[in-house]
Amino acid sequence: MVVRDGAEDLGEASEPDLRRDLVSALSDFYVGHPDSERLPMLGEVGRLLAEALEDDAVVVPEPRGLPVARLLEGVAAGTGQPGIDRVLRAFTAAGPILHWVQTAEYAATLSQHFLDNYGYVRVIGPGGLVESDVAGAGLGVWGAGLHYPRHEHPAEETYHLLHGSSSFQRGTGPWVDRAVGESVHHDPWEHHAQRFGDATCVLSWAWTGDVSVNARLVPVES
Ligand SMILES: [Fe+2]
Repeated sequence: MVVRDGAEDLGEASEPDLRRDLVSALSDFYVGHPDSERLPMLGEVGRLLAEALEDDAVVVPEPRGLPVARLLEGVAAGTGQPGIDRVLRAFTAAGPILHWVQTAEYAATLSQHFLDNYGYVRVIGPGGLVESDVAGAGLGVWGAGLHYPRHEHPAEETYHLLHGSSSFQRGTGPWVDRAVGESVHHDPWEHHAQRFGDATCVLSWAWTGDVSVNARLVPVES
């Protein structure tokens, strides 16, 4: 039957398209983002993603689920900000077939509650949908009320808040609340921490510089 054949054809083609849709949405989010005027790293990451699409260089890693992925069921793309809504729609659609990971040190150190409510997907970077050793970017999810302890990494970083709410601390400075659409920039090795609000939080992050070294927790001073 024509309808069934068509559905089968669509099914065979749909999984790579969901990954490409996510790469495309994140590329377009960064390219031309108003923040890119003061943070050129965003345009750089966006262009690398666009080039990967042009070169058909989006890979298809084996899907790998994590408990945190269940929280995407409560993430709706209704922010009123088209670029963010497009990323959220692409992320939630592709969520079940993506390769979810956690920073290895965190998996060995943080509480089971944290690990059941935290994880991310690397869109570009080592092991990402787009392989790169000069840039990293992806989507991270944290459950309501989590506290992400102070951490550091050699890469320059920009976070954008896409869903929920979060408070950010840079160094030992004050905690600053951020709303959907707002960003936070961290210099290489700058210490930073987050406290998440009452809803599931989705952050995009972009890294440039030394993206081969994972984030690590900063020991608590006694
Ligand atoms: Fe960071």
